[in-house]
Amino acid sequence: MKYDIADRKLAAQGRVRVEWAERNMPVLRSIRQRFKKNKPLRGLRVGCCLHVTTETANLMTTLQAGGATLALCASNPLSTQDDVAATLVADARISVFAVRGENNKRYYRHINDVLGIEPHITVDDGADLVSTLHKRKQIPDHLLGGLEETTTGVIRLRAMEKDGALLFPMIAINDSKTKHFFDNRYGTGQSTIDGILRATNMLLAGSNVVVVGYGWCGRGVAMRARGMGAKVIVTEVDSLKALEAVMDGFAVMPMSAAARVGDLFITLTGDLNVLRAEHFQRMKDGATICNSGHFDAEIDLPALEKLTQKKRKMRREVVEHTLRGGKRINLLAEGRLVNLAAAEGHPAMVMDMSFANQALGVEYLQKRGRKLANRVYPIPSEIDDEIARLKLRSMGIKIDRLTPEQKQYLSAWEMGT
Ligand code: NAI
Repeated sequence: MKYDIADRKLAAQGRVRVEWAERNMPVLRSIRQRFKKNKPLRGLRVGCCLHVTTETANLMTTLQAGGATLALCASNPLSTQDDVAATLVADARISVFAVRGENNKRYYRHINDVLGIEPHITVDDGADLVSTLHKRKQIPDHLLGGLEETTTGVIRLRAMEKDGALLFPMIAINDSKTKHFFDNRYGTGQSTIDGILRATNMLLAGSNVVVVGYGWCGRGVAMRARGMGAKVIVTEVDSLKALEAVMDGFAVMPMSAAARVGDLFITLTGDLNVLRAEHFQRMKDGATICNSGHFDAEIDLPALEKLTQKKRKMRREVVEHTLRGGKRINLLAEGRLVNLAAAEGHPAMVMDMSFANQALGVEYLQKRGRKLANRVYPIPSEIDDEIARLKLRSMGIKIDRLTPEQKQYLSAWEMGT
């Protein structure tokens, strides 16, 4: 069995942390029980590129219980939890290629190591496996398709589909309601704040927090920052989202104005250079900047470097940049996903649904992959509904059912009031 991890001896610590996460993943647990019994993934090779966290470990053991052979690499060089990588190798005997802080060369070598198992199905968070496969001359015949976890990955795939460049079918896990309604909003909302607080120990109450992008993730972060007493400012490029932020009670303004007043800036756009030189120049002394969008491209880091005269590491995930003239800007987690680099990513309770989608998505591709075209598909809505039903049940929450009369009323156009 091949692997490349930091330290196998961390397995014992990883094992209890994975078990801790498992307790809050009842939907995935129920899928694992069924998989264990029926082995629907027998003979299937699945290559995964995901944040190597305790929740991902539970997805891995679920797919393994279904009979799949797995290889896993990181979807971000700073998000790997080395003890989790260790337990997956030592206890679950899964090939893991991930080391926290790995350089770019090693990161891409690990992606190729995962593709080395010749997967039937790829599971991506940011489309790195799929992009690497598309750069090769030929897509192997045995490949059934892939699944994509996050907004940024889905955007990349849709662009490929539009250009006719997509060479195998993809399932957009992010588009499931039981994924983005909860993971992007409540997961990113809580864990981004968690990462910032662990990194800085700053007080949010009374501070001006600028949330860049009011999509699913931005909404969650804005909501949670407000809950802790921050004065939240939203910047947007989309009129509808900006209007929504206004009516949700947030101040909305362009970044040129927000840059002057913000104490803390959080980017969540999936876009490029949303914080750049002209903004750094306007910021207050001591402003803190960080990113929770998928790639470290949202803060223009080369521009910040250019303006920087001196750099000092202040805390584990905080680097102070002193600009010419003496102004200081604190950059968190090298501009990478702050919730995963400075904290542990989303809580297991919410990843339960995201990874239930992944597990059932792998099963769906196994059954249906050959019949699909080279397009980006959503998870079938029955799977989405079933996950919501199971999650509610696991929380002990019951809801009402439509009466036959209501069913008829809601499906008929002839019936008046
Ligand atoms: P979304 O598409 O719902 O929202 C993005 C928002 O950013 C949109 O409203 C868009 O109009 C806005 N935007 C784009 N350019 C902008 C600019 N220059 N200035 C201000 N606003 C701008 O996407 P979602 O789901 O909120 O995801 C955002 C990013 O976070 C993606 O990269 C996604 O992959 C990532 N993500 C990160 C997670 C984490 O664990 N940190 C979890 C889930 C998603």
